[in-house]
Amino acid sequence: MAEVVIVPTPAAGGEIVADEIVRLVRSTPTAVLGLATGSTPLPVYEALRPRLAGVDVSQVRGFALDEYVGIEPRHPESYRAVITREVVEPLGLDPDRVQVPDGSLDGIEHAGSDYEAALRTAGGVDLQILGIGTDGHIGFNEPGSSFASLTRVKTLTAQTREDNARFFDSIDQVPMHCITQGLGTILRARHLVLLAFGAGKADAVAGALEGPLSASLPGSAIQLHPHATVVVDEAAATALRFADYYRYTFANKPEWQGL
Ligand code: PGA
Repeated sequence: MAEVVIVPTPAAGGEIVADEIVRLVRSTPTAVLGLATGSTPLPVYEALRPRLAGVDVSQVRGFALDEYVGIEPRHPESYRAVITREVVEPLGLDPDRVQVPDGSLDGIEHAGSDYEAALRTAGGVDLQILGIGTDGHIGFNEPGSSFASLTRVKTLTAQTREDNARFFDSIDQVPMHCITQGLGTILRARHLVLLAFGAGKADAVAGALEGPLSASLPGSAIQLHPHATVVVDEAAATALRFADYYRYTFANKPEWQGL
């Protein structure tokens, strides 16, 4: 099962994950990072900034999970713009080595298979950062997504559009469609690191970790992965049945194992 790490604050969660990413980049300078947008991964990117100073990141590659369809790449809330602003620029990554699914309407029919091909050519993702939606989505794989799904265009649920309206002037501006790595794509990454903070995520986290495997809760796909780490704060951990066990195993974990 996934390793669950319960942290006191999102900042502490960000530090643990950033330490693991730095270990990876130091040992594998050509590491391929799976990047996520949204509020949740921000503490990871913040903690990475000082930690990566002096580390050679020139060969690091990045692949974003998803993008809105039909939004201008220059729009400040396109995921291309968000990844550039929050990850590529502050961490000094090479923008040419960081890809985001192409959500332009022109060519959208083959944008999914193009992205799959680019991921394969890069040798796959070493460490995939994930958030989870209040409805249990990962990437933009909404409830009902196949565990075998690959990168493709999907329709956002009303809930997700509402959740993301805070980044736009109004909900009407939130795009209706997205292009997202599939659950099958995500499961190919060699290490999954899912983060969730706040009480609003507690049910989704408990369902994903301890509930039945179900396409109705896409996050439950992580139960299929041989190396998954879930980092949650106390508020997001409140519905976990085995929270005491997770604390006990993490406290007694041999240091050499890393995350
Ligand atoms: P959030 O979104 O990090 O902004 O809460 C997570 C997600 O929808 O995957």
